Amino acid sequence: MSKPCQCSIIGTGSYMPSKVLTNDDLSKMVETSDEWITTRTGIKERRIAADDETTSDMATAAAKQALEAAGVKPEELDLIVVATVTPDMFFPSTACLVQSKLGAKNAIGFDISAACSGFLYALQAARHFLNGGPRMTALVIGAEKLSSLINWKDRNTCVLFGDGAGAVVVRRDDRKTAPGRVLSTVMGSDGTLADLLKVPGGGSACPITAENVALRPNTIYMEGRETFKHAVTRMYQASLDALEQAGVKAEDVKLVIPHQANARIISAIAERLNVPPERTFINVDKYGNTSAATIPVALDEAQRSGRLKSGDILLLVAFGGGFTWASSVVAW
Ligand code: ACO
Repeated sequence: MSKPCQCSIIGTGSYMPSKVLTNDDLSKMVETSDEWITTRTGIKERRIAADDETTSDMATAAAKQALEAAGVKPEELDLIVVATVTPDMFFPSTACLVQSKLGAKNAIGFDISAACSGFLYALQAARHFLNGGPRMTALVIGAEKLSSLINWKDRNTCVLFGDGAGAVVVRRDDRKTAPGRVLSTVMGSDGTLADLLKVPGGGSACPITAENVALRPNTIYMEGRETFKHAVTRMYQASLDALEQAGVKAEDVKLVIPHQANARIISAIAERLNVPPERTFINVDKYGNTSAATIPVALDEAQRSGRLKSGDILLLVAFGGGFTWASSVVAW
């Protein structure tokens, strides 16, 4: 468990590519159906980035919105953290590419790889940087081009994922009543279960070669049923821990903003927490699982649609490959 520190989210933004891929489109590509995908996952469609649209392009578009909402200029940024498992390239980091595209010349930047928990990991990393001083203002982004990791012949995975980006501007603020303040964050990892959800190839353990390229090792492999069980257990416990650390009860939560992987996972967690569906944010139907992007995109949509009121208690919770999990309580 980590110590709470004084940081506030002062602006949000998001970007989703315009191309829509529906369940019916997918049923023409693999043996699946709208009925199967909807019943098992709640997903109806997802967004797919253009061939020449990179993770850093989407991250930059989301960041510009967040900066505008916060009233912060790029050169005021001290830190950029990008959570992604689909960086433009191994290096330089996507954060450095975003820094250049924004003209955020005073910021340092680095990426975080924690799959679907990446945004909350990045938020916590930013909080620690800001609280360690002297940096004041950070941009935290979750951005993914998961379509670049999908085996479009594997129906077990290709129906689940999509592309997009969400961003928040975070500022150190010692006021106890500052809007958007992060009250608590808990995080966990279990690398012994790494094999249940991974992209096995393309890294140093298994470089892509002429001999193995046909096996598509550079695409997502997931044991869905096992992942599902761990996701529910870990997200529920992380939520309880984050609430306890923040000194908040589940009934005081105005909106749960969970990682959007599967509507059944989300309702299982909400049921266990005894939070009614109207206090649970869902947009997995529109975007599928965009990994590190789901929570900042959902937060931005909730904010822009007027669903968040000043002082609302929000519970953010995520689970992803690694395995990794995290939860944060935010007072809006
Ligand atoms: N269309 C039709 N049938 C399918 C499809 C499909 N797209 N995909 C799988 N099936 C079949 C399977 O082959 C299987 O058939 P069989 O019984 O003949 O073998 C059957 O449907 C049932 O498969 P299950 O895997 O048991 O289905 P389940 O109900 O578990 O749903 C799902 C699968 C949606 C993947 C679910 O397990 C899930 O959501 N898992 C968790 C995902 C998640 O949370 N990921 C975490 C983050 S991801 C990240 O970090 C990048």
